[in-house]
Amino acid sequence: MVAKCSNCALLIIAVVLLFSTTGSYRIFPPNAPNLTTVEPPSSSFNNSERQALIQSGWWGSHHAIDPNHCYWRGVSCDDAGSVVGIYGWELNYESKLLQLQTLNFTAFPNLVSMSLDGMGLTGSIPKEIGTVTKLSYLVLSNNSLHGKLPPTLSNLTQLEFLYVSFNSLSGIIPSTFSLLENLISLELDSNQIEGPIPLQIGNLSNLIKLNLSHNLLNGSIPFTLGQSKNLIYLNLDSNQIEGHIPIEIGNLKQLQILNLSSNYLSGQIPLQIEALVSLQELYIEFNQINGSIPSEFQNLINLHTLYLSHNMISGVIPPKLFQLSNLVSLHLSNNQLGGNIPSEIRNLDFLCDINLSNNKLEGLIPSPILNCFMSFGKVDFSNNLLSGNIPSKIGYVDKLNMSHNLLSGSIPFLSISDNPYIPWREYSLSSLDLSYNNLTGILPVELTTIPYINLSFNFFECPQGCKGFHAKSLIGNTPRSVNSSVQVQKTEKPRNLIVIALPITCCFLFIIFVGILCYIRCTNKVKFEQSSKKDGDLFSIWNYDGKIAFEDIIEATQDFDIRHCIGTGAYGSVYKAQLPSGKIVALKKLHQRESQNPSFDKSFRNEIKMLSQIRHRNIVKLHGFCLHNRCMFLVYEYMERGSLFYALSMDDDEAKELSWSKRVNIISGTANALAYMHHDCFPPIVHRDVTSNNILLNSELHAVVSDFGTARLLDPDSSNQTLQVGTYGYLAPELAYTMTVTEKCDVYSFGVVALETLMGRHPGVLILSLFNSSNKNIMIKDLLDSRIRLPLCQRDTQAIVQVLILALACLRSDPKSRPSMQQVAYELSNFEQSSLSLSFSKISVFQLIA
Ligand SMILES: *[C@@H]1O[C@H](CO)[C@@H](O)[C@H](O)[C@H]1NC(C)=O
Ligand SMILES: *[C@@H]1O[C@H](CO)[C@@H](O)[C@H](O)[C@H]1NC(C)=O
Ligand SMILES: *[C@@H]1O[C@H](CO)[C@@H](O)[C@H](O)[C@H]1NC(C)=O
Ligand SMILES: *[C@@H]1O[C@H](CO)[C@@H](O)[C@H](O)[C@H]1NC(C)=O
Ligand SMILES: *[C@@H]1O[C@H](CO)[C@@H](O)[C@H](O)[C@H]1NC(C)=O
Ligand SMILES: *[C@@H]1O[C@H](CO)[C@@H](O)[C@H](O)[C@H]1NC(C)=O
Ligand SMILES: *[C@@H]1O[C@H](CO)[C@@H](O)[C@H](O)[C@H]1NC(C)=O
Ligand SMILES: *[C@@H]1O[C@H](CO)[C@@H](O)[C@H](O)[C@H]1NC(C)=O
Ligand SMILES: *[C@@H]1O[C@H](CO)[C@@H](O)[C@H](O)[C@H]1NC(C)=O
Ligand SMILES: *[C@@H]1O[C@H](CO)[C@@H](O)[C@H](O)[C@H]1NC(C)=O
Ligand SMILES: *[C@@H]1O[C@H](CO)[C@@H](O)[C@H](O)[C@H]1NC(C)=O
Ligand SMILES: *[C@@H]1O[C@H](CO)[C@@H](O)[C@H](O)[C@H]1NC(C)=O
Repeated sequence: MVAKCSNCALLIIAVVLLFSTTGSYRIFPPNAPNLTTVEPPSSSFNNSERQALIQSGWWGSHHAIDPNHCYWRGVSCDDAGSVVGIYGWELNYESKLLQLQTLNFTAFPNLVSMSLDGMGLTGSIPKEIGTVTKLSYLVLSNNSLHGKLPPTLSNLTQLEFLYVSFNSLSGIIPSTFSLLENLISLELDSNQIEGPIPLQIGNLSNLIKLNLSHNLLNGSIPFTLGQSKNLIYLNLDSNQIEGHIPIEIGNLKQLQILNLSSNYLSGQIPLQIEALVSLQELYIEFNQINGSIPSEFQNLINLHTLYLSHNMISGVIPPKLFQLSNLVSLHLSNNQLGGNIPSEIRNLDFLCDINLSNNKLEGLIPSPILNCFMSFGKVDFSNNLLSGNIPSKIGYVDKLNMSHNLLSGSIPFLSISDNPYIPWREYSLSSLDLSYNNLTGILPVELTTIPYINLSFNFFECPQGCKGFHAKSLIGNTPRSVNSSVQVQKTEKPRNLIVIALPITCCFLFIIFVGILCYIRCTNKVKFEQSSKKDGDLFSIWNYDGKIAFEDIIEATQDFDIRHCIGTGAYGSVYKAQLPSGKIVALKKLHQRESQNPSFDKSFRNEIKMLSQIRHRNIVKLHGFCLHNRCMFLVYEYMERGSLFYALSMDDDEAKELSWSKRVNIISGTANALAYMHHDCFPPIVHRDVTSNNILLNSELHAVVSDFGTARLLDPDSSNQTLQVGTYGYLAPELAYTMTVTEKCDVYSFGVVALETLMGRHPGVLILSLFNSSNKNIMIKDLLDSRIRLPLCQRDTQAIVQVLILALACLRSDPKSRPSMQQVAYELSNFEQSSLSLSFSKISVFQLIA
């Protein structure tokens, strides 16, 4: 019954499973029997199994209702009527605590899957579990189990998934676990397991995920772990592990997440880490690591999170670190780093959270500090030896802490309203701490709009008694700024208060932050609860008025419920969401699976990058985005009328509503958008996928170009424009033989869309025949959409002819002879009404081909 998948297929499923489900555990094993289809004849069930189920007491009086236990909730049987699956979460058990020992394991020799997650189980894991030798999926996590891991678990050689996280298990990890050769995922985290990690763990060569975090493990990290070459996730966080990080860790080429935080690790970070090319997140915080940050880190091209805070790392911050173009979050605080902050920090478009506090960094602050075009950039440079002025350009920072440095000069950056990346967002800081510096000058009144501000212990002055500033934010400045002696008395107290409160606050903030991160990363269906703070979330980034919050999105879509889905594409789904403000937005969410795929991921980031740089009324507006490898979505303005393709081909009524003048308007709007991208952006942007599907219509039936996933900057310095993309039927013919993408490819696609809009359907092979002189007698009237009447007014007639002339010019096979989008847009918006009276029945298409 339980078909064994081929290793390869299983592995793929397993990876998907592992990384899509960890939060809620409500998962089927990859080879779980289908509960609904297994319906054994009622005569053939096994009575001793039935007795064992009844004896467990877990089913209450259920057995009184149905004599065949194979029909009970949470029980599944094979064809022979033997129990193969027990799924606790299907059970309507009462809230009373259940004993794991009451289940007679010996009675279920055919059991393959057992999932008893979060059932309030007490007692220990009975050694009889070792008799269920067919078990491949065992979940006992999130219960109150105590006692030791029975060594008989090692008898379960078919085991692929062993989850016992979140219990109170103690004792050691039996070294015989190495016999579990089929193990794919081992989660023992959040228990009180002690002793060393056995060397034999390296024998688990199929292991993909190993989570031992939050235990009492000691000893060192076994070098044999380097043999588990399939590991993708390795978490040893919060244990008592000591010694060096073994160099063999460099063998784990598949590793994406490595967490060694909160241990007693010492020595240097091994250079071999550079070999972990798949690594996305690296956490070695709260250890005793010394030495310097290896500049070899630059090879970790997929790294987006690097936390090395609270160690004894010295040396400088290697400038090469900032070649990690995917870096989002960099925490190096509480170390002994010296030297300057490399100016290369500005290379990174995605770096939005940088914490270098409590080091010995000196010299000037680079300008701008961050390029992050997410609006919640966080910068913490506090408690260093930074000097000089605050740069006049700070970039797109939301929270800025430069307290406890040696900064001098005045505050320069007050007209921070123009973020070129997100020009539509009114930009301002939400938190600014410049206390304990040597800053001088008159305080600009604009500062009073910043919700949290601390300017204490500087040499500021402000003429009108610092009106608008909270006295608390100006403690310890020159007497002129603070107007009473009361303030002077206050100065000492808060100092002490800060000394006490700071570590507590830091601790608290850290815990919250850890919680949020953890929560986001573990949550399968992006299930976010009230706990995620309005703006404290690292990876959710909102631009639209700064007011869209993560949980609003989740709430509005009921956790991306299918009911809110309004369309699906190759790599994602589009959802409609009404926010609490009443505003409706569209969400484009990358499929869970695709978010693991680097090329989709790239296209997603690309879309953000492109759209952040442009603003035009015929180009879709990006309101915000969430960028995290487990949760990726973009927030757009919502287009009521869907795509042009839909309007033209799905619904005749809608097609009829698109009158000739409206269609010409749509074509002209599209031309404006493309002209803007090609000619007003620098470097120019080529859309590369102009189709009727990617042109959306708003409530007034104006065209809005969307889908910038494959758009590209035409960088003159880059010869690599080769990646072929686009949609069949819209691709310029030259793409068949040259791989070079130019603006003229968009011009061609535009020609197809223009023709399609007038014809009401894709022109298909007609495009070729239009240019064929043997088809001289195709008349315009035969071409136009027959669902609407031929135009009556001369203005429409002339406009259609004008569009046709331009569309045909755009479709020329020689790219050089096609007009530019600028020309097209110009011709469409400025064409002269002539007194000429045209009749479609007399004009052939061929006549329009110049
Ligand atoms: C079981 O199989 C039935 C019929 O093939 C299918 O409709 C159902 O979705 C399956 N259920 C599960 C849990 O796979
Ligand atoms: C457990 O089940 C086995 C096999 O059905 C049976 O021999 C044994 O007596 C049962 N043990 C208990 C304690 O019921
Ligand atoms: C029921 O299961 C027991 C093992 O628990 C086995 O000895 C017995 O042969 C099975 N009986 C049937 C009818 O399958
Ligand atoms: C653990 O189980 C309890 C019920 O026993 C449930 O309320 C809680 O949400 C579960 N926690 C996790 C992390 O699954
Ligand atoms: C199960 O494991 C124990 C100890 O690990 C061993 O003594 C016993 O022989 C094993 N039983 C089977 C059936 O392999
Ligand atoms: C690993 O264990 C920690 C601690 O129990 C838990 O918070 C985290 O969600 C686990 N990670 C995964 C991916 O299972
Ligand atoms: C590890 O912990 C165990 C008990 O928790 C202790 O007996 C042992 O000495 C410790 N080993 C090391 C290397 O600290
Ligand atoms: C298991 O690991 C140990 C220690 O690393 C090693 O000596 C042994 O040969 C391994 N066994 C197998 C079967 O690989
Ligand atoms: C790092 O710490 C180790 C002890 O854990 C020590 O032997 C070594 O000299 C230290 N190296 C540096 C560069 O401080
Ligand atoms: C900062 O101000 C203090 C107190 O006036 C002074 O002693 C110190 O030299 C100044 N430091 C710098 C770098 O200007
Ligand atoms: C930076 O790190 C320090 C030390 O871990 C912490 O106290 C502080 O809150 C962090 N800053 C930010 C902005 O998160
Ligand atoms: C890694 O450990 C740190 C510190 O204990 C924790 O904050 C973080 O959430 C962990 N990350 C992952 C991915 O487990």
